[in-house]
Amino acid sequence: MPTLRNQILRKYFKAHYPNIDSATLKCRANSRFSFMAGDMNSGPKRTYQVVVAEGRKSAMEELTATTLDPTKKNAVVMGRKTWESIPLQFRPLPARLNVVLSRSGKVGDSIEENVVICESISSALESLAQPPYSQSIEKVFVIGGGQVLREALNAPRCDAIHITEIETSIDCDTFIPSIDFSSFQPWYSSQPFVENNVRFSFATYVRVRTSTVNPHACGNGEESSSDKFEVGSFTFLPKMIFERHDEHFYFGLVQEIISSGYKKHDEPGNCTLSKFDCEMRFNLCKSFPKGVSWEGVLPEFFRLISGTTNEKLADVIDAIKNNSDDKRIILSLQNLSDLTLEFSVANGELSLHTHQPFVDMFLSVPKNIASYALLKCTIAHVCGLIPSDLNLKIGEAHVRGTHIRPLQDQIHRLPTPFPILKINPNKTNIDTYVSADYELVGYDPHS
Ligand SMILES: NC(=O)c1ccc[n+]([C@@H]2O[C@H](COP(=O)([O-])OP(=O)(O)OC[C@H]3O[C@@H](n4cnc5c(N)ncnc54)[C@H](OP(=O)(O)O)[C@@H]3O)[C@@H](O)[C@H]2O)c1
Repeated sequence: MPTLRNQILRKYFKAHYPNIDSATLKCRANSRFSFMAGDMNSGPKRTYQVVVAEGRKSAMEELTATTLDPTKKNAVVMGRKTWESIPLQFRPLPARLNVVLSRSGKVGDSIEENVVICESISSALESLAQPPYSQSIEKVFVIGGGQVLREALNAPRCDAIHITEIETSIDCDTFIPSIDFSSFQPWYSSQPFVENNVRFSFATYVRVRTSTVNPHACGNGEESSSDKFEVGSFTFLPKMIFERHDEHFYFGLVQEIISSGYKKHDEPGNCTLSKFDCEMRFNLCKSFPKGVSWEGVLPEFFRLISGTTNEKLADVIDAIKNNSDDKRIILSLQNLSDLTLEFSVANGELSLHTHQPFVDMFLSVPKNIASYALLKCTIAHVCGLIPSDLNLKIGEAHVRGTHIRPLQDQIHRLPTPFPILKINPNKTNIDTYVSADYELVGYDPHS
């Protein structure tokens, strides 16, 4: 016979969650409004994204509280000690389902609506895959602390890691494991911010390989084996993160030219759409902006190096190494479409700004992006610097009428993580590099 207390709790859950299967509910004796799923270790489970946020509290709040569907909420899963570290007046974290993990049941009595207690990560993910949560919860974020992340960070159900990367050594008492870079690749990395003299940036890594399960086989849990680069869709990412992929700069500009470019008639039956004063920015700290076939990039890059030899590339490298306070380290290449390259060094990082008066968005720009990026990464490598911004300024960018269709096809292709560039560490003379000195890790030739 269910006790009166359990009957009341069941009524409560039925009222709030009409679809819930009461057979899966177990009510915890010392909690007023909490429940945990039963012992379910074989049913479907949700995947999740990890958030390790420091610095701007609002950034983590924005990420975990925003949903695409206004009728849904996200869930934040945390260890009992993290829950207790949140000041009383700020918990439960608003506008989200708070899932607190505890084996001991020490969570206390003050549990309210929007808070669920689970005995394990596995049972939490299983509960969240079942009604009512399968319908009402859009995304699941695991937010710490250290103990929970030691189990969750690199686990196969972790789709993505959103992390604040701090460039200063700070005394800590809680630690998270390192990200397994054989499974995760960068999606995007922000420009650095400085607060209280601490430099930090936000980065997102996405799972590109898994050896045990394919978490996208079915939205809420069916599993299948997979051990290859997953070139599927990364639309599970929060929209604000999905749109930060650097490829959006290129496709955004193409889209803008096609939809509102200035129309010129070059020859009968053909027209060109143009836009003046354009800019694209790529962050090369973590990944390499490969928009065309790698085999196509290398000849373009070596052509760029040989084209620059007469223009004294060695002087530029010397200035970067020995005179980097010289604000203007400029290389002008009239023989390469009046290309101007301007290098600058700050905080051990090398930035490159390029300027070209006139470019073809379909035929030239993808190759230009990759070959300038390769030049910059190589120069940074020989100078012992980190490659950071690549900023392309274009006087007039144009799309020919005959290229609109293939470009539109490309725009509709969803972005995948950019690969990581590895350069032969044993070479330091730029003139000696050959194709074999470069390797692209995580390069999917079919994407
Ligand atoms: N900077 C950040 O981004 C960030 C984020 C989160 C937390 N933090 C900090 O990290 C600290 C807390 O981290 P922590 O490592 O000490 O503790 P924690 O991971 O937050 O919580 C540990 C507790 O959670 C429960 N737990 C852990 N793994 C579980 C599992 N697999 N299944 C069921 N229950 C599980 C256990 O509770 P029981 O003992 O009740 O069984 C365990 O004692 C706090 O100081 C917090 O402020 C920082």
